[in-house]
Amino acid sequence: MDIFTGTTVGTSWRRAVISVDQFSRGDINEIFDLADRLANGRTTPLGGKIIANVFYEPSTRTSSSFFSAMTRLGGSVIPINEVNYSSVTKGESLEDTIRTLENYCDLVVLRHFENDATERAMEVSKIPIINAGNGSGEHPTQALLDLYTIKKEHGGVDDLTISLMGDLKFGRTVHSLTKLLRMYDCRLQFVAPNQLAMPAEYIWPADKIYQDLNEVIDSSDVLYVTRVQKERMQGSEDFDFSYAVTTHHMKKAKNDMVLMHPLPRVGEIATELDSDPRAAYFRQMKYGLHVRMALLYAMIGNV
Ligand code: NCD
Repeated sequence: MDIFTGTTVGTSWRRAVISVDQFSRGDINEIFDLADRLANGRTTPLGGKIIANVFYEPSTRTSSSFFSAMTRLGGSVIPINEVNYSSVTKGESLEDTIRTLENYCDLVVLRHFENDATERAMEVSKIPIINAGNGSGEHPTQALLDLYTIKKEHGGVDDLTISLMGDLKFGRTVHSLTKLLRMYDCRLQFVAPNQLAMPAEYIWPADKIYQDLNEVIDSSDVLYVTRVQKERMQGSEDFDFSYAVTTHHMKKAKNDMVLMHPLPRVGEIATELDSDPRAAYFRQMKYGLHVRMALLYAMIGNV
């Protein structure tokens, strides 16, 4: 088995999924075709394989969907969802934790609060790593499942107007999704207060920037909402900012608008909207299971 040497760009996503920058449109089509096939199948091609879920930050959906994906494919999971009960509390470094786990499993799914964590893990690891969220950096598997959701719900991505609203500064899901959407011919609209605005590096000249949902609600084919990432704010940045999509907004939205959220929501989408057929955030989770099955199979199915 070869050992990782390069940086993110140039590292095959089959060896380590660090950033959405690693995927081409062809790769994405391949993963989505695989997701379609595995969603409908009853095969267990990862029988005998083991992954470790190593989460230094809380998670419900990402950790349990990887757990479910692996189990559905016939494999097993070492769940270290609460690193406080592992040797991390004894002061063990991330590098040593990874070097330990590579003896016991075939792939590590890693969520960490530091932005450079996945690359550090990749540098020491002989087995594939999947970035399940690195600080305020990226969340590439979430972005893939978000894109898959848009394709499933709308039949494609080209020509759509996609509005991203919420904490665009610290939200890693919107960072990864924005980069991934650049591969398609769609229009992006960013809605956030100044303090939570999308960082300049993610903005392209044709993008539209707003502060109020009312300005974009009627033109959006997709509205992707995120929560304020309070845990990433320090001192002066910590302020009260509330926004919510309500039935009032949905009356002005297109009949086929797709309302998405990576979840957890903490008030950004009123629960009255859950029965609206345009609310796709629960379906989004199911799509995510299939995309994660595809990634696991593509990365360790044939090695
Ligand atoms: C997201 C995350 O962890 O970045 N959650 C998830 O994986 N679905 C979004 C969030 O926590 O706000």
